[in-house]
Amino acid sequence: MEEAFTPEDRAALYRIIESRRDVRAFRSDPVPNEVLFRILTAAHHGPSVGFMQPWNFLVIRDPGTKRFVKAMCEAENGRAAMNYAGDRATLYRSLKLEGIEEAPINLCVTCDRLRSGPHVLGRNTIVDTDLYSTCCAIENLWLAARAEGVGVGWVSILNNDDLRQILGIPAEILPVAYLCIGYANEFSPIPDLERRGWADRLPLQDLIFVERWGQKV
Ligand SMILES: Cc1cc2nc3c(=O)[nH]c(=O)nc-3n(C[C@H](O)[C@H](O)[C@H](O)COP(=O)(O)O)c2cc1C
Repeated sequence: MEEAFTPEDRAALYRIIESRRDVRAFRSDPVPNEVLFRILTAAHHGPSVGFMQPWNFLVIRDPGTKRFVKAMCEAENGRAAMNYAGDRATLYRSLKLEGIEEAPINLCVTCDRLRSGPHVLGRNTIVDTDLYSTCCAIENLWLAARAEGVGVGWVSILNNDDLRQILGIPAEILPVAYLCIGYANEFSPIPDLERRGWADRLPLQDLIFVERWGQKV
């Protein structure tokens, strides 16, 4: 069978996957529309249950809107910080967990849970497959952005009801991701949370079971 991809193509794909980072510090120069469109096209080519394509992409550039979202994030982050005590709390409070105002683009990726009507092929029993599909689109977007040298940071320290209100999102539409997008100052070789001593990457071997849950090779 003819190889569809060269070893260089494959190496590039793995390099993009391994060097993708959650980015929270951005340069101020704008992301050209054609670059954004390519990234969104990658998202739109993600797999979806029953080819439902439940996503929308709400592009936000208005500084006033970003200010509202940032204020909401700060309030939620204050509440989240109360989950920690001692050194862990000090470390948590020192982490930069969003780049809402610095990023030239904010993007809210939503899921329309009713798109395609009440019955979607493949979604009869596991109804959350529409959410899984939306996350697949987001990962595509994240990788395409990395290939373009554009950083993406996912901010989940937000309240969806407040977000709906700020962005005029109807009640039946679920905001799945709020992403900060812009050219990155750097793509660190390891995740920021690893660099800061918050968490380490788990050994892959520990996560692989064979034939039965818990069974190792
Ligand atoms: C669903 C989801 C929500 C996340 N929310 C946040 C967030 O609110 N703030 C943040 O700094 N990073 C957030 N992240 C990024 C993770 O912290 C990051 O993916 C992880 O630390 C691994 O780093 P890497 O993406 O650079 O490999 C989120 C990631 C995912 C997948």
